[in-house]
Amino acid sequence: MVNVAIIGCGKITEVRHAPEYSENKNCKIVGFYDVFSEKAEALAKIYGGKVYASVEELLADDINAVSVCVANRYHAEISIQALKAGKHVLCEKPMATTEDDCEAMVKVAEESGKYLMIGLNQRLAKAHVKGREILQSGELGELVGFETHFSHPGPEGWTGVANSWFFDKKIAEFGAMADLGVHKTDLLYYLIGQKIVKTSAILTTVDKRNQDGSLVDVDDNAIALYTLENGVVGTMSVSWTNYGQEDNSTKLYCQGGVIRMYDDPTYSLIVEAKNGSIIPYELDQLTSNKEQTSGGRSNTGVIDTFIEAVMNGHEPALNGKSAIHAMHVIFANQRSAMSGKVESVKGV
Ligand SMILES: NC(=O)c1ccc[n+]([C@@H]2O[C@H](COP(=O)([O-])OP(=O)(O)OC[C@H]3O[C@@H](n4cnc5c(N)ncnc54)[C@H](O)[C@@H]3O)[C@@H](O)[C@H]2O)c1
Repeated sequence: MVNVAIIGCGKITEVRHAPEYSENKNCKIVGFYDVFSEKAEALAKIYGGKVYASVEELLADDINAVSVCVANRYHAEISIQALKAGKHVLCEKPMATTEDDCEAMVKVAEESGKYLMIGLNQRLAKAHVKGREILQSGELGELVGFETHFSHPGPEGWTGVANSWFFDKKIAEFGAMADLGVHKTDLLYYLIGQKIVKTSAILTTVDKRNQDGSLVDVDDNAIALYTLENGVVGTMSVSWTNYGQEDNSTKLYCQGGVIRMYDDPTYSLIVEAKNGSIIPYELDQLTSNKEQTSGGRSNTGVIDTFIEAVMNGHEPALNGKSAIHAMHVIFANQRSAMSGKVESVKGV
């Protein structure tokens, strides 16, 4: 049995971490911590477990693993503290807010011999797993292009707080470009198996405003043009200002046809072959933010993957070493938006 505790008791803990741990028979929620103790108390009432007064008190308890679900700025500090205390860590995305912090997290995980997993749940979605399998099988020939999208109405609907920390650069560091873009950037790396070597990105803030009417200081829309190791190019577009139906779609263009993922309400994967044949797969559908905040949920597989790795003593595939590439791309996007130039990605 894996004893787990959760640090940060906001929306992602409420809708994913706490319910998914409670559904997993191989772990037990031992307790919660949040800077606002009433948030920890509310979850302890539902799921059981203690309410800790500090991170230190939590880490001193008989706990094997922790979820780090706090605001972005504090991911690195708390994850490193937990790893050094001998706990396996599942940290939410984006991994950290500086490139140095991301690298430090990976290094400390290696030194401590504990696992560091990042909550990049898109890799586990069924159509993505199948799409990757089809691409890697070579049945559609080589990849010749790609596009990936993630857009929804923004974090204020998700957290239920109009002026959420997601809009505060000092705490969030990034806007939609990383909040949504790290998922899709990591997904491209997972699907295609090639690193992104160069990027040209534009970040804009056009609609999200502070209470005084000024625009927020992080981007609410971003578009990046990515170049892969083999020279193939494609785009990622993300937005917090899509007030219609959420878009979480990805298309891989291949010599022999197109692999379409999550762009159809019924078939989460559609293969359109060059010869005109169409193969639809009815696998699963991603739960939108709107559905999750109104009580709808599906198990993302993140917690089950983490607990299985801890139980069986092997590093999860979604570990820090693997997830850091997407962060290097995110920082290159930031540099490109500032410089107006194509920027190289660190570590490739
Ligand atoms: N994997 C995903 O798809 C996904 C989806 C949403 C959010 N997230 C990530 O999860 C993290 C949390 O987001 P959220 O939507 O739950 O936000 P939230 O604002 O609802 O919750 C954050 C919680 O952390 C607490 N907190 C902040 N700093 C803390 C600290 N230093 N110590 C203890 N508690 C602290 C806050 O009081 C709050 O309760 C963010 O990094 C976000 O990017 C991931």
